[in-house]
Amino acid sequence: MNQKFHAPKGVAEYVPPDSAGFLAVKSALSRSAELAGYSYVELPIFEDTNLYVRGVGESTDVVSKEMYTFDDRGGRSLSLRPEGTAGVVRAVVEHNLDRAGLPIKLWYAGPFFRAERPQQGRYRQFNQVGVEALGSEDPALDAEVIAIAAEGFQRLGLKGFRLLLNSLGDTATRVHYREILTSFLANLDLDPETTKRAQLNPLRVLDDKRPQVQAMLVDAPLMRDVLSDSAREHHEAVCTYLRELKVDFSDAPRLVRGLDYYTRTTFEFVHDGLGAQSAIGGGGRYDGLMSDLGGQELSGIGYGLGVDRTLLACAAEGLEVTSGQRCQVFLVPLGQPAKLRLFGIAAQLRDHGVSVDLAFDDRSLKGSMRAADRTGAKLAVILGDDDLAAQTAAVKNLSTGDQQTVAIAELAETIQEML
Ligand code: HAM
Repeated sequence: MNQKFHAPKGVAEYVPPDSAGFLAVKSALSRSAELAGYSYVELPIFEDTNLYVRGVGESTDVVSKEMYTFDDRGGRSLSLRPEGTAGVVRAVVEHNLDRAGLPIKLWYAGPFFRAERPQQGRYRQFNQVGVEALGSEDPALDAEVIAIAAEGFQRLGLKGFRLLLNSLGDTATRVHYREILTSFLANLDLDPETTKRAQLNPLRVLDDKRPQVQAMLVDAPLMRDVLSDSAREHHEAVCTYLRELKVDFSDAPRLVRGLDYYTRTTFEFVHDGLGAQSAIGGGGRYDGLMSDLGGQELSGIGYGLGVDRTLLACAAEGLEVTSGQRCQVFLVPLGQPAKLRLFGIAAQLRDHGVSVDLAFDDRSLKGSMRAADRTGAKLAVILGDDDLAAQTAAVKNLSTGDQQTVAIAELAETIQEML
């Protein structure tokens, strides 16, 4: 017997009818970015491994444990992209996009890869829609980025999501915070691996998900209490703008994100209907990333929204999201000449933006009508030899059963009126 294959473990894949929901979520989230003046970028799915080591951070779980890394045939180390920001900044520097007007506003959508332990909402190949805006430090931009993410969720009708907001401080704050956090961590009874991590990058320890570690961190010093004046002012301005934009948020002084590049504004959208994997999106500002990747010193801010988790959130709220109807009109030929004629009619209708499918395999009228019902089409057009001779076709409304005769010359117009 021939071998049967399965999709790799832990990947998110969508087949009809669920795939329509996936597409709808992706396009709703993308639409927000387009409406806010972001331009689309299509970037590679694998990059130089060092881009992520430098950009995302060697001590992050994402880089140290979860990357799909391989050598290509020329012996270069490449990794499947675990996230989008490093690649976008790389492309901005490589293509000198920062020579045009600032801020540069870009959006992207597609698959990302992390070798995580699969569970509901956590996949090894998952999908994001993201934006990055580089070259402006205006706190209004932070607020706008957050607002357009929220708008995307609202466009889908989602209600049960919350926005968590924090500031991770600027460079000056971080040097100081690192010192006090390091001395706090030094007094804890941490396992050897975590101790090593505390020395390498103490902030990463705050992101440790293990309950026993979290319990020890209850009294950890908070970044919020040591923010520099300028970082505090920036954060307060972002909060003011968000209030003016009527975007609800809650302070999350313990929110640390899983990627190293964040400074100042950081945020996460969580949905309570999702269980453990509740983050449906997240993002923040990154002051040093562009210069770390060989560009000029421009700050950036962006987000990545999880398409897969957003779709699960819609399902948890009982929202039916679907992209445009697969088939509005189903064409039923009775005989060869009618079949040829219907091909032309199909093309004509599709030119008018009507989605059209047609019966293949020369089925009987009964079989074809059953196929028509299965597509969910609103109308069926039936054409036989006699109709052809009279230059007319029968148009049947599949929900009411009403049928009428329409001149072929007027078919496109009449059908558009009936849809
Ligand atoms: P992130 O928080 O790592 O941020 O990912 C963003 C979103 O992607 C998450 O909130 C979640 O919805 C989704 N996601 C992440 N990992 C998985 C997974 N294994 N399975 C399913 N969904 C997942 C970033 O990636 C940053 N690049 C966002 C950003 C852009 N920050 C600034 N600009």
